[in-house]
Amino acid sequence: MHCKLIGVPLQDGALRLGCEMGPSALRTAGMKPALEELGHRVSDLGNVVPTEFEDLRHPNPAIRRLPEIVAWTKLLAEVSYRESEDGMPIFMGGDHAMAAGIIPGLSRRAAEKQRPFFVLWLDAHTDFHSLETTGSGNLHGVPVAYFTGQPGFDGYLPALPHPVDPANVCMIGIRSVDPAERKALKATGVTIHDMRSIDEHGVAAVLRDFIAMVEAADGLLHVSLDVDFLDPSVAPAVGTTVPGGATFREAHLVMEMLHDSGLVASLDLVELNPFLDERGRTATLLVDLTASLMGRQVMDRPTRSY
Ligand code: ARG
Ligand code: MN
Ligand code: MN
Ligand code: MN
Repeated sequence: MHCKLIGVPLQDGALRLGCEMGPSALRTAGMKPALEELGHRVSDLGNVVPTEFEDLRHPNPAIRRLPEIVAWTKLLAEVSYRESEDGMPIFMGGDHAMAAGIIPGLSRRAAEKQRPFFVLWLDAHTDFHSLETTGSGNLHGVPVAYFTGQPGFDGYLPALPHPVDPANVCMIGIRSVDPAERKALKATGVTIHDMRSIDEHGVAAVLRDFIAMVEAADGLLHVSLDVDFLDPSVAPAVGTTVPGGATFREAHLVMEMLHDSGLVASLDLVELNPFLDERGRTATLLVDLTASLMGRQVMDRPTRSY
C-alpha cells in the first residue's frame, strides 16, 4: 500500500493551544518507519496550511476563529479529494475541526468512484453542534453535523455537494454529549455506541456489525480517531480528556479488526496536543495504533479471524 502522510497543523478549533504540534510529534514518534517496517511505501507530503482568510462573523458570539476554520475547511476538502485518488491518505492532526474539510473531500471522491462512503468516528464526543448551538464556540465540536448536511452552516462553511449519509456514520466510544447535540442527533440515523454499549457487548461485537454493513455495501471507509476516544490514563495528550475511555487493548483490537476487514481507505489522527503529553507516550501510542491498522500483528494469523 502507498501511505501518504499529510500534516495538518490546525489548532483553531480547540480551546487549548498545542495541536499545531501534532504532526511534528507523530513524525518524531516514528510514523514513517513504523509503516515502512510493515512493507508499505510511505510518502510524507509535509504540512498543508491555508493562506487566504475571509472576514466572517456569525451571530453566535461564542464562536471562535470562524474565518480560520472556513479557510482550513476549504483547503482540506481540496487536499483530501486530490490525495484520495490513489493510495491511503493518513491525515496527522491537528484538532478535529479538520474533519469538516477532509471528510467532504473524501466523500466527493467516493461519489466519483461510485462507491458508498462510510465514516467510523472514534471519539468521546459526537461533535454534532451547529454554529447556532455550540456553547463553547470551539469549532472542533461541529464537524459531524456539518459533513452530514445538518442545518446551521449555510453561508459560512462551503455548501456540500456530497454530504455523508448519517446512516453511514458509526460512532464508538461516546461518553460526552451536550443537550443540543443529543436533540439534533435524535432523528438522524447516526449509529452511536456509547461506553455502556461497549461495556455490555464488547467493542468487537459493535464494530463487527458496522464492518459487515460497509462490506455488504462495497463501501469506502474513513476512520477518524480522536485521542480522547482513549482513556486518559493511556493517552493524556489531549485538551478534552473524559474519564472512562477505550483501553489500550480495546483500541488495538479496533485497529486490528479494521485491518483484517480490508475496507479502510483513509485515516485521520486528531486532537493530539504534544504540549500535554508525557515523554511522547500518546504520540507513540497513535503510531502503534496506526501500525495495527496497517497490518502489524503480534502473531501471524489467517486473515478475517474475528
Ligand atoms: N461538546 C463540547 C463542545 O462543543 C466538546 C467538543 C470536543 N470536541 C473535540 N473534538 N474534542 O465544546
Ligand atoms: Mn472529536
Ligand atoms: Mn460529484
Ligand atoms: Mn473528542
